[in-house]
Amino acid sequence: MRRGVSAPAKHLELCDSADIAPGTALKVEIGDLVLAVFNIDNKFYVIDDQCTHGPGSLSEGYVEGDIIECNFHGGQFNIRTGEVVLPPCMVPIKTYLSTIVDGKVTIEV
Ligand code: FES
Repeated sequence: MRRGVSAPAKHLELCDSADIAPGTALKVEIGDLVLAVFNIDNKFYVIDDQCTHGPGSLSEGYVEGDIIECNFHGGQFNIRTGEVVLPPCMVPIKTYLSTIVDGKVTIEV
């Protein structure tokens, strides 16, 4: 049985997909969110920009396949799943479901 009524999902338009070359990332600030948008083989993935370990900005990290390495202490996350790949990060990074709508990367929040 469902309890309560959840708020309808809100679509946020982040950027033009053409603005992000394959293998790179773009930092996008929208409302209270600071996000890193990645292009991996022309599929787009969105995660929180701030590393869960500290102040590192993941959009400024090093992309290797579907792994992002934080440029602060070298911790790594899987961009697709948010799972930690390499310490010192211990907490997964939040991921957002993204879709392309009219050439724009969008997420639901
Ligand atoms: S701030 Fe990212 S690994 Fe420490």
